[in-house]
Amino acid sequence: MTTAPVRFLHGGRWVEASPARPTRTVLEWLREEARCVGTKEGCAEGDCGACTVAVGEPAADGMRYRAVNACIQFLPTLHGKHLVTVDNLHGVLEGAPGLHPVQHALVAHHGSQCGFCTPGFVMSLFALYESKRRAGETAVTREEAIETLAGNLCRCTGYRPILDAAQSMLDIARHGEGLPPGVDQGEDAALAAALRALPDCAVPDFLAPRTESDFDQLRLDHPDACILAGGTDVGLWVTKQHRALGPVLYLGRVHGFDRIQAASDALVFGPAVSLTDAWAALVAEYPSLRDYAQRFASPPIRHAGTLAGNVANGSPIGDSMPVLIALGAQVLLQRGGAQRSLALEDFYLGYRRTALAPGEYVRAVRVPRLPAGQWMLRAYKLSKRREQDIAAVALGIALHVAAGVVQAARIGAGGMAATPVRARRTEAALTGQPWNQATVDAAAQALHAEFSPIDDMRASAAYRSLAAANLLRRCWLESQGRVVDLQELPA
Ligand SMILES: Cc1cc2nc3c(=O)[nH]c(=O)nc-3n(C[C@H](O)[C@H](O)[C@H](O)COP(=O)(O)OP(=O)(O)OC[C@H]3O[C@@H](n4cnc5c(N)ncnc54)[C@H](O)[C@@H]3O)c2cc1C
Ligand code: FES
Ligand code: FES
Repeated sequence: MTTAPVRFLHGGRWVEASPARPTRTVLEWLREEARCVGTKEGCAEGDCGACTVAVGEPAADGMRYRAVNACIQFLPTLHGKHLVTVDNLHGVLEGAPGLHPVQHALVAHHGSQCGFCTPGFVMSLFALYESKRRAGETAVTREEAIETLAGNLCRCTGYRPILDAAQSMLDIARHGEGLPPGVDQGEDAALAAALRALPDCAVPDFLAPRTESDFDQLRLDHPDACILAGGTDVGLWVTKQHRALGPVLYLGRVHGFDRIQAASDALVFGPAVSLTDAWAALVAEYPSLRDYAQRFASPPIRHAGTLAGNVANGSPIGDSMPVLIALGAQVLLQRGGAQRSLALEDFYLGYRRTALAPGEYVRAVRVPRLPAGQWMLRAYKLSKRREQDIAAVALGIALHVAAGVVQAARIGAGGMAATPVRARRTEAALTGQPWNQATVDAAAQALHAEFSPIDDMRASAAYRSLAAANLLRRCWLESQGRVVDLQELPA
């Protein structure tokens, strides 16, 4: 087989790399080959943020920079992108020598901590800085700063000086210590064009087609190849379970796979649409999902991971599925040129078993638009930590209440069974009934009894059943404009 190197820009330097295996991580390459050891390894599973780097990609209007975890990104996925790391940060985009405004801000606010967490904090803030520059925005709110750093853990000191630095980095840039936060559009466009013009790479066992028909054919020819989307699940099979994956079929380079189609009756998400973009579209449609969307992992995981990957992976505690089931989502499965569609709840056959046939893949996730003003949508996630944690229980609830009566109900649940599930008996207990305390109590009892969740380190079965029932009660109280006092709920 002919090979061709992986090509990308690292800081200001063009790089050609020829990894011996497709699963060599960006972090391994940085530390072992490039000898850029400022980027650290903490957990090697996307959890701690020590390895955070920024990746720039050509976008419609120039370049777009986002923070990702280098420890679980495979090197060949960098082809045609711009990697920015803490070692080459200063002056990298603006041509200015010395510290970058983000670094200045951290020094000025005493936000620099140990050598493990600080490089990650710097790079998460750098990605925020770049997105602000490109959006022409001049301020960072406290909330934005907190959300940006949700995937950067420090167990030792405090976040306050770092948050202060985040809020002052654009001012520091404007007032002389660095360049103003504008962007040279011409330079951005030229870089995007140069990246787009790179010839394809060819890495053994890394199949990275550019067209949908090539992807379909390769999927048929290699039904056992591991489909790779964002790698936020697959990456851990390599770094934590030390699995040899064999051939990898990457969908991140297929033209059009990252498209969100906004039809009049539905939003349709292609298989490479990131969780960041997918949840932004869902929140724009359903603002009540905002808090839930922010609870999904951390920004670096959401930038790399995809909605379709979350659905295909089929974890019983995945965050997207309870909401998508409540919204009546369907998965579009493709094999060769042929497509079929399944209700999302019917896609799951058992613990991490799906209805995918050999040669088939998730071509899209279709989320119907609920008629405006008619439905109430709520989503809740219970986990031990607010940020960067997996759910013990999650519930998505869509209700159509008219004239005081529940006309229709759809409820999706996570953490309650071996797969994401639809709570049909609970829906039946609600439908056709007056929307009042008595109905909600009856439905909460139905939900309590409907599933037999497992006991594990995240939560006991009894906790899960009770908590799910109480989330339904919480939905009722919120619908009455009540701030929920936890003492009111059954213990
Ligand atoms: C630190 C950390 C925190 C996390 N937190 C959360 C969380 O809060 N909530 C949550 O739900 N998840 C969480 N996850 C899990 C993960 O981020 C999600 O499941 C993510 O959506 C997976 O998408 P991906 O694109 O990275 O999938 P990948 O890792 O690329 O693939 C996942 C699986 O799906 C298959 N696959 C991918 N795309 C397709 C397709 N189109 N067709 C068929 N098969 C496909 C792959 O072969 C693989 O089996 C977390 C992961 C990490 C590492
Ligand atoms: S090393 Fe912890 S997130 Fe990568
Ligand atoms: S982990 Fe770096 S100071 Fe706490």
